[in-house]
Amino acid sequence: MNSPKSPVSRRAFLKTSAGLAAGALVVARTAPNLAGAAASPAPHQATGTRTGEITSTSAIVWTRLTAAPIRHPSGEDFMVNARQVPGDQLPKPSGPVDELRGACPGASGQVRLRYAAREDLVDAVTTAWVEVTAANDFIHQFALRDLRPGTRYYYASEASGLGGTTVSSAFRGTFETAPPPDAPTDVRFCVMTCQAYPDRGHPDGHHIYPAMLALKPQFACLTGDLVYYDNDAPRAFTPRLARYHWERMFSLPRLLEFNRAIGSYWLKDDHDTLDDDAWPGQQMGEFTFAEGQRIFRQQGPLTAGPTYRTFRWGRDLQLWLTEGRDFRSTNTIPDGPGKTIWGAEQKEWFKRTVTASHATWKILISPTPFVGPDRPTGKNDNHANAGFKHEGDELRAWFKANVPDNFFVICGDRHWQYHSVHPETGLNEISVGSASDEHAGGSPGEDKRYHRFHLVKGGFLSVALARRGDLSTIHCQLHDVYGAVVYSWQQERSVKA
Ligand SMILES: [Fe+2]
Repeated sequence: MNSPKSPVSRRAFLKTSAGLAAGALVVARTAPNLAGAAASPAPHQATGTRTGEITSTSAIVWTRLTAAPIRHPSGEDFMVNARQVPGDQLPKPSGPVDELRGACPGASGQVRLRYAAREDLVDAVTTAWVEVTAANDFIHQFALRDLRPGTRYYYASEASGLGGTTVSSAFRGTFETAPPPDAPTDVRFCVMTCQAYPDRGHPDGHHIYPAMLALKPQFACLTGDLVYYDNDAPRAFTPRLARYHWERMFSLPRLLEFNRAIGSYWLKDDHDTLDDDAWPGQQMGEFTFAEGQRIFRQQGPLTAGPTYRTFRWGRDLQLWLTEGRDFRSTNTIPDGPGKTIWGAEQKEWFKRTVTASHATWKILISPTPFVGPDRPTGKNDNHANAGFKHEGDELRAWFKANVPDNFFVICGDRHWQYHSVHPETGLNEISVGSASDEHAGGSPGEDKRYHRFHLVKGGFLSVALARRGDLSTIHCQLHDVYGAVVYSWQQERSVKA
């Protein structure tokens, strides 16, 4: 089991860093005077850190420097969404975005990362200082290589002003690398989706965050709709307003604590790319689909490579994370062989890599569903809808022919929890549900032809793998927003099969 060996001391480690994150302490390390001039104001890290794209030997640590130690505590608040007011009538800011409640304006400066497998960081690897500027929203993503498999790492993201000579803030975090591909898999991970801001259920952030943290997962999947550019006021008519949505959401105390403690794989869907059911070429005010793609890659711990990718966690688990927006056809054209969500390259990659994999369990984590059932009217942008039935049928038939026994889908997007089995192909799909009860809804109702479980509530999914000899057990549990288990589904498989 790769679970943390000393959770108490890890908590203490993170707690200690809270003061540092708030800029309360200046540590006695020095930074070079890169600019050779007067130091710029000492930067802080109010938007915390994010760790992603974790493999057995690599990870990305995302950092961003901010002007203030905490999110803007006052100013105009927007606790209104498109359920209460028509989307095009949502209130707009009456002043500068930097002065809105929850804003975290960036700051130029320099940042470096110190990381080690020891929590005291005594033998830490220290990166070079890197300058950050407005050109990349004051963000730098450290690509860590040559890490040890199955190992808990600790880090401090240290900041200094341009030309400064002292570390003005140090934000601490931790993550765990995947075990080697041939090692038995004992792991737990969580999957969430669809977090709206006014609907979050608690001022400090959604209840699912402390609930997921309590399970001590090795990692999490954040499966799209991580902000709602179009439905949550203020609408993101400009790139600055789009970035405000990320600042406001990810500086919430509960999200800061989660993301500094748990590595995560990020997927995007429609509302965190542009707007409802979005496809390439669209625009909302001055804010374009292309800018939405760029900002998602910037705000998430992501590489410059394809947003469809696969990750191995030991002998028994391989995940496929797919891209559902960038390559899709216009939603409104007639369905048929040429209409696609995945695009030809992604489809070829998926089939080739799934066929080549000898993992005991193969899981597709998709931002949108394949089985549903979804609403028959008012929704037509996923593989469970009539508008993409041709490609949906093609892929479901491929799953049945090629991975009939050890493959299933976990999906985001739908705001209710379910476990469905496709009547014709036997494909299993689990919908993790919205991130809060306030955001739940939209189901066409329970359908016994499909549903093994159906509940119009928020929550999240945990998946635990355990190995006894040659037997691998996979246990999927749907949780309510506070962590209570509402549904369990367990399967076993011989690793030699
Ligand atoms: Fe959603």
